[in-house]
Amino acid sequence: MNLNTSKGTGNPIDRVEGKLKVTGMAKYASEFKVKNLVYAQGINSTIAKGRITAIDTAEAEAQPGVLAVITYKNAERLAQYDKDLHPLSTTSIQPVLQSDQVHYYGEYVGLVVAETFEQAQYAARLVKYTYAQETPDIDFEASKGKAYTPTEQSDYSRGNVAEGLAEADVTLDETYVTPIEHHHPMELHAIIGSWNGGNVQAYASQQMIDNAATTIADTFQIDKKNVRVMSPYVGGGFGSKLAAKQHVILALMASKAINRPVQLTVSRNQMFTNTNLRQRNEQRIKIGAKSDGTLTALSHDTLSHTSTYEQYQEACGTVTKMLYKTPNNSVTHRLMPMNLQSPFAMRAPGEATGSFALESAMDEMAFKLNMDPIAFRIKNDTQVDPSNGKPFSSRLLNECLRLGAKEFGWENRPQKPASKSEGNWLVGYGVSAASRRAPYMKTSAKVILELKNDAVWATLQMDATDIGTGSYTILAQTVSEYLDIPVEQVDVELGDSEYPVTPGSGGSWGAASFANGARAACEQALKDLKDKAGETAATTTVALMKAAQLSTLEAEGTAEPDEEYKAHSVFSFGANFTEVWVDKDTGVFRIKRMLNVASCGKILNPKTAFGQIIGGCVMGAGMAIAERTEVEPNFGNFITRSFADYHVPVNLDMANIDVVYLPEEDKIANKMGIKGIGELGITSVAASIANAVFNATGKRMRDLPLTPEKIF
Ligand code: MOS
Repeated sequence: MNLNTSKGTGNPIDRVEGKLKVTGMAKYASEFKVKNLVYAQGINSTIAKGRITAIDTAEAEAQPGVLAVITYKNAERLAQYDKDLHPLSTTSIQPVLQSDQVHYYGEYVGLVVAETFEQAQYAARLVKYTYAQETPDIDFEASKGKAYTPTEQSDYSRGNVAEGLAEADVTLDETYVTPIEHHHPMELHAIIGSWNGGNVQAYASQQMIDNAATTIADTFQIDKKNVRVMSPYVGGGFGSKLAAKQHVILALMASKAINRPVQLTVSRNQMFTNTNLRQRNEQRIKIGAKSDGTLTALSHDTLSHTSTYEQYQEACGTVTKMLYKTPNNSVTHRLMPMNLQSPFAMRAPGEATGSFALESAMDEMAFKLNMDPIAFRIKNDTQVDPSNGKPFSSRLLNECLRLGAKEFGWENRPQKPASKSEGNWLVGYGVSAASRRAPYMKTSAKVILELKNDAVWATLQMDATDIGTGSYTILAQTVSEYLDIPVEQVDVELGDSEYPVTPGSGGSWGAASFANGARAACEQALKDLKDKAGETAATTTVALMKAAQLSTLEAEGTAEPDEEYKAHSVFSFGANFTEVWVDKDTGVFRIKRMLNVASCGKILNPKTAFGQIIGGCVMGAGMAIAERTEVEPNFGNFITRSFADYHVPVNLDMANIDVVYLPEEDKIANKMGIKGIGELGITSVAASIANAVFNATGKRMRDLPLTPEKIF
């Protein structure tokens, strides 16, 4: 059966761009054919703090093919931050090579441009820097004294946590630690940038086209109208490509200087230092409960680090504000400046890490109360978001937990830890609840209809991106549904700033926003056709085109959240179940199986949605069992600088993952009933694994990753 002959959303059709990808026809940022192209290589600092006292570029400049060596001495002056430590956003300017100061190990200190990639790489090694080095802040414990409240602070409280804890029969106070992690999408960050006398053109691997154009325009102080950003295919991002980073600015700066298009790729090695990271978090959770399991207090205090020049806070406490009913709640976030690069959003920023702390603590509490952890969560369910008093648009968390328990065989879980075994393996089951905001943002789209051979063909255009998530496919399905034409008759064109503006891919708002934008464009097209057709019995799109005597029609539409959306709290929910086997002698463990039950509105395409959830489960497992970027304690560089030493799960670790979707359409969330999936998938996965390890061994794991030597 050729699944792609179907119409509309809801069908598990193959990716419409799948063939282009597997045959190498889909072009990624660095693969576009651009005339007169030259190559650049960034140079990284080899100290973590200090200043550059001398630079010798002579040898590099004398090499064959070398066109320019750019350092802070000859770089053009760009827009500068008003002050140090400004809050970082996806449209922040990205000044680079503006001073002799070094803020972290690996910061860009130069760029070599040459006729070939190899010439640029070779010459980059010949530029000699002399530094006046200072002692960097690279020690987490020592930096704690400098902790401060961020400018855009997100502290929250209701009731009185101290009183709530005093009323409790059982209390808990524990700290959970997650290490520095890196994103590492398959496609490296890259750009082919052309200055073109001020008509900037950039093929760049970016998640948010419009924001990238803003960053470029603001950094160079030019009109955004003169900036075109194209990113038709993106080989993954995970948040690292939300903003245009310094390499984008470097390439354009070089292109302006030598008047040729410049290709710049951030190497895998440089992706550890030049494209952000997920910072280390220490999260302290306090819980109070009555002996029947009723929560009386819940607090969540997060300590993170940021760079010495920008503020980024991962809002780990977000989940704790809204997930459970408790009258007394408080959430704080504190930052400490360190000589490490700026952190930034990594898949489910806040929820992925926050849920590890909260859902581990809830499991600990259930154990202290001698309650089943599912029953404990259900006992404290709420249909109203306690952080703002708004009803949830829909909240099927209890249903996820109950259905998951049934499907997973939760009744086989030993109540007592370390009491179930298979040969030399201890067997344990873990559960966790997941919640992730399901944002929906203003989105525009254009649809072009053509009548050819008695059929209507449609082209959809929007600046949305497909970062591997399936945007092309769900948008083809959406247009097919609203115009009532087969999917094969729909072309989707994405990732170009000349197309209508969307919020881009991020924050799990892509599917809901893009699809509703496409819907709005189709509805506008049909309305225009009906207006032009006048009195007619025609109902199909083909008949309407004929009645209106049109061979082609263009229409634009915009979708945005309505009052009902704003009056509700809109979240996706889910439950994770994990079975682990732990070797009694060595602590080596295996994730035997995982089940994710997800409630995330209408599923536009079960196949691409499945990919999103299992991808999230694998990334959550990576967080739990493998990922950790280590800071070298003397120099402040990262010890983990390649995939040889930055570990991620492999197929053997992830033998068996199942996903179940609760049938749901959330019409309050948006007209099509869609809620986000991508970031729900990773949320609380790590806690379900840690909770399973506790159930297997009786050892509580509060410090990720859970490596065997920590278990016994
Ligand atoms: Mo996501 S961390 O907003 O790509």
